[in-house]
Order: sequence, then structure tokens, then C-alpha cells
Amino acid sequence: MTAFKIILLGCIATLTIGASDDSEVAYPQGFREWTHVTSSYVGEGNPSFPKYAGIHHIYANQPAMTGYRTGAFPLGSVIAFDLHAPKTGPGSIQPGARMLVDVMEKRRDGWRFIEFLGDSRTEVAVTGAQGVTRCMACHTKAQRDGVFSRLDG
Ligand code: HEC
Repeated sequence: MTAFKIILLGCIATLTIGASDDSEVAYPQGFREWTHVTSSYVGEGNPSFPKYAGIHHIYANQPAMTGYRTGAFPLGSVIAFDLHAPKTGPGSIQPGARMLVDVMEKRRDGWRFIEFLGDSRTEVAVTGAQGVTRCMACHTKAQRDGVFSRLDG
């Protein structure tokens, strides 16, 4: 093989990998059937209240479950954060309308983020590019490979 061909193949490979890593994270179809990791309520007084008021559930696909067990999340790990407005009744708080679905997917160059609005599978509130500052900046502080929640949480 000529040096030219080798360089050309290298470029094609780089382009292919680059293209797939820069693409937006897909809507996590069927995430309600993934493994439930934890749930939590965020009320007034919590620093996350302005954006995350309500009840959220966290779900992990199979590769992400390996990450939760070992602390190192393999390629293809996807985690969904499903936020619902609080529906309060006498002595009870239940999940109401879906507010957003935050998603993180493990790629070759690390986690990529996205935020879907409400029940929409297409309306994106935070793109992957925006997620670098709006999501990743905080998640890099999480000690277990950028993930805060734990199976025992
Ligand atoms: C200020 C810090 C902060 C920012 C900014 C932030 N998150 Fe998180 N995120 C958290 C914390 C803390 C949890 C854990 C919540 C729990 O355990 O109930 C979490 C949980 C998650 C999870 C479940 C996996 C995990 O780490 O526990 C996903 C998915 C997620 N966030 C996506 C996003 C996306 C997408 C964005 C940007 C639109 C974002 N996050 C912005 C702090 C942040």
C-alpha cells in the first residue's frame, strides 16, 4: 500500500469516528424499561430547585449498569434523568407532568449530553455542544466517572 493510500484511509477513519462522536445523543427510546437506579425529590431550599423542582427518576441501560457496578462506564452507556413536576395531595407528593429528560451517553472522547423538553422526543433544550458548559462542567466533579448517582443511593 502506498503512503498516500494509508494517509487517505487514516483521514476517512478520523472523519467517520469524528462524525459519530459529534452527532447529537438520540432520544433514549424505551428508557422506562431500563434499570431504575434511584429517585429523588427536589423541593424549595434545595440549590437545584429553580431548574430541577419536582421528582426525578434515573434509569440506566445495560452498559451503564456495568459502570454503576464498577465505577468505569463503557462505551455505549446511556443514563436518563426523568424529571416530573410535583403533584401534591394531602400528605403525598407524586410525579406529575414530565418536565424534561436529561441524557448522557458515553462516547470515545467521554460523555456527551442532551436535554429533551417535556414529553417531546425531538425538541431539544440543551444540545451536545451547549452541554459542554451547561452539563459537563458540573458532571466532571462527580467522582465515579462523571456520574453522581449510585445504585445504593
Ligand atoms: C450543578 C451541577 C449539575 C449540572 C449543571 C447538571 N447536572 Fe446532571 N446531575 C447532577 C447531580 C447532582 C445528579 C445526581 C442526582 C441524583 O442522584 O438524584 C445528576 C444526575 C444526572 C444524570 C443521571 C446520572 C448521574 O450523574 O447521576 C443525568 C443523565 C444528568 N444528570 C444529565 C445532565 C444534563 C443533560 C445536564 C445539562 C442539561 C446536567 N445533567 C446538568 C448535577 C448536575
